[in-house]
Amino acid sequence: MEKHSIEFTKEGCVLVSDEANLLDASLAAGIPLYHVCGGKGKCSTCRVLVHEGANYLTPPTEREEALRQRMHFPPDVRLACQTCATGGPVRLSRILRDESDMGLYVGPFAGSSTQQIGEERDLVLLFLDIRNFTPFIERHLAFDVIHIVRKLFTIFQELIEGHDGRIIETAGDGIYAAFGFDAERPAAATAAVRASRAMLDELVKLNESYFRVHFNHRVEIGIGIHLGRVIMGSIRIAGSDRLLVMGYPVNIAARLQDATKTVDNDLLVSAELYGYLDPSVYAGAATTVALKGVGGDFQVVPLGTPYSDRSPM
Ligand code: FES
Repeated sequence: MEKHSIEFTKEGCVLVSDEANLLDASLAAGIPLYHVCGGKGKCSTCRVLVHEGANYLTPPTEREEALRQRMHFPPDVRLACQTCATGGPVRLSRILRDESDMGLYVGPFAGSSTQQIGEERDLVLLFLDIRNFTPFIERHLAFDVIHIVRKLFTIFQELIEGHDGRIIETAGDGIYAAFGFDAERPAAATAAVRASRAMLDELVKLNESYFRVHFNHRVEIGIGIHLGRVIMGSIRIAGSDRLLVMGYPVNIAARLQDATKTVDNDLLVSAELYGYLDPSVYAGAATTVALKGVGGDFQVVPLGTPYSDRSPM
């Protein structure tokens, strides 16, 4: 009987015979992999993350495939109880490490389906903020303030989702959205800029026909967009799944939104993102700006209109 060595990143190497699955071999070697269903491919608690050597593992069994479909595992996650080694270097890690982890993946706090396990993705990140809203809040009734935010956010949400984006978070008078869940960088960058322009166009109409007429107020927004490799995963809060998208590119997109005021333009994209756009459609000249928390000058391209070009109310 042949034996193959499998490396667990934290616990070390385990010898697995070609007749034993990874769960049995790990338990025999003293690595405490969870196995709530007893290795029947039903519970998913024996999940491992494969870092290297996926091609030296047996293909998913029918049971694993069924669970994989239902729980939307990323391709690098396998069920140890349904997987055998075929020879060749394999490196993997346990996903559930203790009882407290168990609650994250099984039970009432577990996400029901997608993105339970964090993964790295290329995404386009968009931050939008309503400008100078505090004086408006101070002068108007709570009902009016919430009414305006609700009206705007409903329209913005439709436009973001209509361009295949997703709102990740709203905080006060700001929106954080991401694009590129099913698209490559050029398409995702273009979709985010199109959505932004559509939101700005819609705002021009609303200012003229609604906010000026009913509130004697012009609403301004600032939008910053950047892209990059981020970490994505879900968390269950108050019974519903929330998507988390985190990483340095997210901070940069937020800083770009802040910088719309300094640069005097309502839509600011990073030069890196601009490189994925068709310049014959989106003409823009690069400039540099100092972004808080981001070392050195940062190359940006203004793609909106200057706030200073607005005519007085
Ligand atoms: S132990 Fe339950 S699915 Fe592997």
